[in-house]
Amino acid sequence: MQDSLHIPVALERCIELLAPAISEIQDPIVVDATLGMGGHTRALLIRYPHLKVIAFDRDLGAIAIARENLKDLADRVVIVHAVYDEMQNELNHLGIESVDGILFDLGVSSMQLDTAERGFAYSQEAPLDMRMDQSTGKSAFDVLMTYSFGELVRILRIYGEEKFATKIADNIIKAREKNELNTTKDLAEIVKASIPAPARRTGGNPAKRTFQALRIEVNQELEVLERAIPQSLELIRVGGRVVVMAYQSLEDKIVKSVFLEATTSRTPRGLPMDLPNSAAKFALLIRGSEAATDTEIGINPRAQSMRLRAIEKLAA
Ligand SMILES: C[S@@+](CC[C@H](N)C(=O)[O-])C[C@H]1O[C@@H](n2cnc3c(N)ncnc32)[C@H](O)[C@@H]1O
Repeated sequence: MQDSLHIPVALERCIELLAPAISEIQDPIVVDATLGMGGHTRALLIRYPHLKVIAFDRDLGAIAIARENLKDLADRVVIVHAVYDEMQNELNHLGIESVDGILFDLGVSSMQLDTAERGFAYSQEAPLDMRMDQSTGKSAFDVLMTYSFGELVRILRIYGEEKFATKIADNIIKAREKNELNTTKDLAEIVKASIPAPARRTGGNPAKRTFQALRIEVNQELEVLERAIPQSLELIRVGGRVVVMAYQSLEDKIVKSVFLEATTSRTPRGLPMDLPNSAAKFALLIRGSEAATDTEIGINPRAQSMRLRAIEKLAA
């Protein structure tokens, strides 16, 4: 692999959760909704020599790296440059109606975070981009320059869970009027100056929440996920499995709520058995969510905030 430091998160656990949906099937197909550098896809293809993977990523840079990393396995991977909520359409174009497993490893990749020019990292000076797909859409700079005070407060509060949203938004507007907001460093300084000193002493870098909020807004991350998770439940066959790794609570909440709804029986409470057609069509494979092991976190700090959820389809 090009990036030898890249370690796929919870790799063995993801394979273990997907295995029953793959191993006994004649020509299994798994969707990797978030290809990244291809770590999970590569391991799955090696483990299951009869498996085919349809892989999605919205980042052309990630796709180029993954293609290189997967070139010895290219005859068993189809790579699609698309946002994962287009999965159903794209699979239909490929003549695929249902699949055996779907894997989501959400968020940005270490490659995106480590490439300073992408603008995801508050610790490195760079243009304010933050688009996962640099071929389209508005950048963080566009958001910061054009959104009203109220819109900025809203995204900082909801997507960043930022207590000092009004002060930060106020200082963003002042800085943009003076043409003093051009880089990630300018933004990080504005956030720092907006937060009272006692609050700055806890909870890590104060810019973290603002950068998260902008990234979510720029990439419409939550809206896209809200469409994609129900789509993935539609797309798997009976016995198929969906496995999701989320790294921040807003994404995990969406996954949790869709999974909860899908695994809840519609039979009124108190009846001794499910009414016909009212039984849940899905079952959770993990009660609640699972975190990475301490050993994994020790080797791969990115795994620290990961929450894993998995579900199986029981009936059509
Ligand atoms: C955490 S990385 C995946 C790493 C991958 N599992 C590996 O082992 O290399 C997430 C990837 O998903 C992509 N991504 C995030 N949101 C996406 C979306 N809505 N549609 C398509 N790709 C997305 C990002 O561009 C990034 O490359």
